[in-house]
Amino acid sequence: MIIENRKGNLYFDGCDTVSLAKKYGTPLYVYSQTEMVSRINELKDCFIHKYKNTRVAYASKALNIKAILKLMEKEDLSLDVVSGGELYTAIDIGFPAERIEFNGNNKLPEELDMAIEYGVGRIIIDGLQELKLIEEICQNKNKKVNVLYRITPGVKSDSHDYIVTGKKDSKFGIPLDDDVFYPAIKDAIDSDWVNFYGLHFHVGSQLFDNTSHLKALDIILDYIEEIKKRFNYEIKELNVGGGFGIQYTDEERKPYSYFLDPMMEKIESYFKKSEMNRPSIVIEPGRSIVGEAGITLYTVGSIKDISGVKKYVSVDGGMTDNIRPALYEAKYHGVIANKFDKKADDLVSISGKCCESGDILIEDIKIPLAEAGDILAVFSTGAYGYSMANNYNKNPIPAAVLVKDGKDSLIIKRQSYKDMIKNEILASWM
Ligand SMILES: Cc1ncc(COP(=O)(O)O)c(C=O)c1O
Repeated sequence: MIIENRKGNLYFDGCDTVSLAKKYGTPLYVYSQTEMVSRINELKDCFIHKYKNTRVAYASKALNIKAILKLMEKEDLSLDVVSGGELYTAIDIGFPAERIEFNGNNKLPEELDMAIEYGVGRIIIDGLQELKLIEEICQNKNKKVNVLYRITPGVKSDSHDYIVTGKKDSKFGIPLDDDVFYPAIKDAIDSDWVNFYGLHFHVGSQLFDNTSHLKALDIILDYIEEIKKRFNYEIKELNVGGGFGIQYTDEERKPYSYFLDPMMEKIESYFKKSEMNRPSIVIEPGRSIVGEAGITLYTVGSIKDISGVKKYVSVDGGMTDNIRPALYEAKYHGVIANKFDKKADDLVSISGKCCESGDILIEDIKIPLAEAGDILAVFSTGAYGYSMANNYNKNPIPAAVLVKDGKDSLIIKRQSYKDMIKNEILASWM
């Protein structure tokens, strides 16, 4: 159990969250190593060890910081990065370049240059112009790189529009139009500068239903067969993305096997019937590994009770450390960490401190009677929280600690006011 009530305080992975708030200040991101490792172990049991020739590439956009990348490296995972910055962080902690794959719908020439220079294991091509760009860079460096094409399978998954990626009208991926798709495949197969490895899709995020993954598979498997027919070429790798949903409020997280077993069954039986060898299968989970492993601690400040309307309980963070509620109405659950054993019977909304009416972290939640100085813990903030943190209203980005079986270690220092203005310069005429 990573969440426990001990003497009325919320304990997280064996650590008293109230003491953590005192020791490091708030807002504070707290990440549980035990929870992350348990998700990774589930993936090892139900995927990597169960099916041959499979890999997990942690989608680091969910939480790309040195300590977490180090953990993924030690756990033998591969890594998905989507920018020069994410790649730089991974290389900085010694993540083996050959285990890194580079995704992104508009990789900049300098980012591709950097990735090829470092020798990343895969570049996942996401647009028709990208192959040419990669070939030019490879030619200049006299290096070859392994590539896959990210395709848009044209299936709509059931999630918020901002995190649905597999439908035809999407900025991501190459459309499966014959006159576009097959020439692109031929160019990659014929290229002197890339090894064409295979295909990639990612249908969306925070999914609880496996049908969009399965529909996308049905589509892509036929294209794989057609590639063999047209070009006598067998792809080596198929990447089916991430997107596995987690619990924020009352959703129930499905085990990985709910998604992976039917997908693997479909894949295995397809290739058994075909004349082709089964390619290696890669998944790219992000949120499901780190999401529930993170909580954010805040200190309660002003409380505004509008009689007969609403009670606002304001905390010392908000859309700067977690923009998801303001960005796409993401829902969260929280508790008062120092009143964890008290009855939650006061209906309030948790508001942030930013100058935006939309800066509401949780709309309508029951908590014990809150007072200034209480520590509020918001659950499931491990994914896309710190990753999307920003300095709106010049609020510093919070610190983060990693906890494990009662131990805590600072992994991100709190940003200072000085840090925030260090790149700002007065104009030369001032
Ligand atoms: C290409 C790709 N792979 C993997 C992921 C990770 O998705 P999730 O965090 O939902 O597992 C994303 C997220 O948007 C993505 O775009």
